[in-house]
Amino acid sequence: MIITIDGPAAAGKGTISKILSAKYKLAYFDTGMVYRAVGLQMVLSGEDLQNQEAAAKIAQNLTFPQMMELSVHPDFRSDIGSHAASVVSAHHDVRAALLKMQKDFALNPVFADGTPANGVVYDGRDTGTVICPNADLKLFITASTEIRAMRRYKEFLEKGVTADYNKVLQDMIARDERDSKRSAAPLKPADDAIIIDTSEMDVQTVLSKVMSLIDAKL
Ligand code: DC
Repeated sequence: MIITIDGPAAAGKGTISKILSAKYKLAYFDTGMVYRAVGLQMVLSGEDLQNQEAAAKIAQNLTFPQMMELSVHPDFRSDIGSHAASVVSAHHDVRAALLKMQKDFALNPVFADGTPANGVVYDGRDTGTVICPNADLKLFITASTEIRAMRRYKEFLEKGVTADYNKVLQDMIARDERDSKRSAAPLKPADDAIIIDTSEMDVQTVLSKVMSLIDAKL
């Protein structure tokens, strides 16, 4: 079974995807990681994020071990890493270089330890529209910008990171704008995606709704 979960930042995609992949014994592919790896590598190499050629070169040579190494860097999930990922993900040549790797995962999905899985939960922006247009179930998880910014702000505080809510909100607005207005695979729900607005829902409520959709498919 292939499930795609797309939507804007901090809508709850990651939390839901991880719980679902564990419950239904499916592999999990966080596609944002590949863009974060390219963006962070650009920052660490001192490249201008707008340099499409340099970013595409990094994307073409990106290996799984390199991505895992970058994923433990303190800026991988910081606002620096988020901003860099969002900027490089708008480059057509970067997306083209990372397409096959993401599509191929559905052909031979594996768990983190390398053992084969019977399917995959994809988490991203274009997984239902571009990566897996034939997925068994497509979800688009969203929430209001203010609520997503508040969730991200609380995550920072929980991690002991000093944050300013208004700055988090402005960053969220800028990232939404870049992710949804870019010409390369802009963020939008697939025509056959089920849209879930989690603004007024807790994780359990979202999960029961999604699980009933999956169980109906099974
Ligand atoms: O899901 P995330 O916050 O880790 O994603 C980081 C950035 O990567 C996001 O702002 C846009 C980009 N991205 C993308 O363009 N396509 C995807 N499938 C996943 C992420």
